[in-house]
Amino acid sequence: KDIKRTETKPFTQELKIPEEISFSKTKKAKFSSQKSLVQIYTDKPTEVLTFRGMLPNPTIRIKRGENFDLEFTNRLPQPTIIHWHGLIVPSVMDGHPKDVIPANKTKHYHYKVDQSAGTFWYHTHPHARTGKEIYHGLSGFYIIEDDEEKRLNLPSGEFDLPLSIQDRRFDENRKLFYKDKEVPQDNNGVLGDVILVNATPFPYKNVKNRKYRLRILNSSSVRTYNLAFDGIEEFALIATDAGLLEAPLMVKNVIVSVAERIDIVIDFKDKRIGDTVTLKNLGFKEVSNLKLHPKYPDFDAKMDIMQFHISEKAEDTSSLPAKLVHIPRMKASEAVRTRTITMEMIAGGLWTLNRKPYDMYRIDERVKLGTTEIWELKNSVHMGHPFHMHGVRFQVLDRSGKIDFPTDKGWKDTVLVMPFETVRIIVKFTMPGLFLYHCHILEHEDQAMMANFFVER
Ligand code: C2O
Ligand code: CU
Repeated sequence: KDIKRTETKPFTQELKIPEEISFSKTKKAKFSSQKSLVQIYTDKPTEVLTFRGMLPNPTIRIKRGENFDLEFTNRLPQPTIIHWHGLIVPSVMDGHPKDVIPANKTKHYHYKVDQSAGTFWYHTHPHARTGKEIYHGLSGFYIIEDDEEKRLNLPSGEFDLPLSIQDRRFDENRKLFYKDKEVPQDNNGVLGDVILVNATPFPYKNVKNRKYRLRILNSSSVRTYNLAFDGIEEFALIATDAGLLEAPLMVKNVIVSVAERIDIVIDFKDKRIGDTVTLKNLGFKEVSNLKLHPKYPDFDAKMDIMQFHISEKAEDTSSLPAKLVHIPRMKASEAVRTRTITMEMIAGGLWTLNRKPYDMYRIDERVKLGTTEIWELKNSVHMGHPFHMHGVRFQVLDRSGKIDFPTDKGWKDTVLVMPFETVRIIVKFTMPGLFLYHCHILEHEDQAMMANFFVER
């Protein structure tokens, strides 16, 4: 059957901003994973999955030191679980796939947030179904604030915009469809031709002529974006996955693979009322040489994502300080050992780590609580893989490839390992228990490219 692609004029819908759940005001929140009908397009509703009946899902905003308290009820027919991506929380609260809860059951999440300010996210994590569930809507932002960041007087309030970027496929009835039978390559990752930002297709946002903080999350299935702007040449990278950089870094473009976050400060002060600035994907050929179906834009496709319409003058009292926070550099000499993790496809076309398909109950690596290790990530294939670890944050020591990643300078929980590249990360294990590490291309982790590590006392 030939599925007609949906066409809609881009930049006609205003960007949706997620509602916020703030734990300073709310003592306890409730989520339930559920089927919902939402208006992604204005002409017809789309069936999606949500946590509170709408998309985008709410942004969780919490201060360091506050208690997170949430009751999660699973209203889906199949078991699922929520994971707090980038948070360092007790293992039983982390959302490991072995802890899935059945239909109509409730799990109570409660833990104290004790880590630096940053842009994190949450999503479901049932084994072999994470890709499909996130694709249909089950993800959202999780923002941690602290006093150190507050003192910097970065743009805040309406000038602090979360942008969750996802490529999707819709049929002519505005129905989302996940894997396409005509595209066998979908097992390597699902690419779409419609870009949603906060569940809004190719949106625009009216802005004032001043500084904005943009918190950008790549919550796509597989696509890596090389982000830049038409109309603004340079912007300041101020934070990576797990927190602020030591100093803002002026850049012209940034590569963001699946699950990575960047916070940037962009200044519209030299723009005139009526001007437009476009956030675009420059494309990124080096990340994969896989050939996809001609129906869908390839890995290296150039695409416009969203527009900013400069519509009002405004005074700007926010700052972009030259120094942000101190990042203690972890040294290779502090590591008690080095482990090698290989990224390979094995017979049968399965994506794996160290040639072992994922087993929920097998412990692949045992580490000692409080120690520091080097993990050497070796990619031996023609496709880049974003490597993610639960329960920790890490630093990038070095990479063997040619491309420099400005994001390597900050705290990370996900790092893109380019084709045939080796990346060495250094990580300290501060939370005991069982955690995951995996490729964050959703169709790869769902297949087998995932493993368990156990932090023992
Ligand atoms: Cu975004 Cu295993 O996580
Ligand atoms: Cu992968």
